[in-house]
Amino acid sequence: LREPVAASAPGKVIITGEHFVVHGSYAVAAAINKRATIEISESNSGSSIVYSNKTRSPLFLNDGRFVAVKKVARSILEEYGKGGESIALSISSEIPDGSGLGSSAAVSIATAASLLRFLGRNDDYDNISKFASLGEKEVHGNPSGIDISACLNGGIILFNKKSGAKPVPMDRAIQLLVVFSGKKRRTKSLVEKVSERRKDYPSFFENLTGAMSFLSLDVVDALTSGDLPRLGALMTLANASLSWIGVSTTLLDQLVERANAKGSYGAKLTGAGGGGSIIALPKPDLATSILKSIGQNFRFSFLTSLPQKGLTWEE
Ligand code: MEV
Repeated sequence: LREPVAASAPGKVIITGEHFVVHGSYAVAAAINKRATIEISESNSGSSIVYSNKTRSPLFLNDGRFVAVKKVARSILEEYGKGGESIALSISSEIPDGSGLGSSAAVSIATAASLLRFLGRNDDYDNISKFASLGEKEVHGNPSGIDISACLNGGIILFNKKSGAKPVPMDRAIQLLVVFSGKKRRTKSLVEKVSERRKDYPSFFENLTGAMSFLSLDVVDALTSGDLPRLGALMTLANASLSWIGVSTTLLDQLVERANAKGSYGAKLTGAGGGGSIIALPKPDLATSILKSIGQNFRFSFLTSLPQKGLTWEE
């Protein structure tokens, strides 16, 4: 009998550059304090099964459930399994689906890490990333790779498609407020919507993509020097650009307004938009009171300090 193996990976927020990163700009992303854990053990029923506390589904059945996890696990079994393995794959996640907080990246990474180790195969970061990306592609279409990089490496990263991820060194921790609007959305259709906008305004869009790249580099400066007012202002400016490309919504803009009005240095939608979540940079002494006030109406709201750990194998 093989020993069970468990691994966990964090969700993520994008601090600046989402969408524009798909078109070549720099972006900044960070792992957060909500995680997804996957445990693999031998199945005693003779067939492979995926389950969470809510539901269960056979690994080789296409029923629309656990799409990313199944894609990753099947790909690994195809490449490395001897055909005879039947596994029980259990998912427990603190990251809501469709919240823009990297749930599919986190479960994809934790699945790849735990299954590769369970089978005694190469579980270095490159191989984990390769298989985890297959899960992301299954749900996101044509991802830039930033979610996988942020959740695997942890910390805060500066990312672009050409050069990949560079860690952003931090002297001091900072605190971010995350608010899930409650409205789920699909990254894939939002990425497609942005491509339409680009077709209508090709030069304008190209220039704005360049501007967002410079803005992300400024964000790295503000983060490393601990300049919170500057960081907040850049976040709010990034939100205005995301609005222009059509991925914000009235609800998200209202949440940004509220977070600012209650005492944040800045706020913006995070991830694909169209719903999902916002992040705000609260003035440190007001963080708890802003959370309390917004959390009354938006139950999945929390503070996270940055940086946070990436992938870990659990005992
Ligand atoms: C989603 O977290 C970030 C997007 O830029 C898509 C991607 O980069 O793959 C919207």
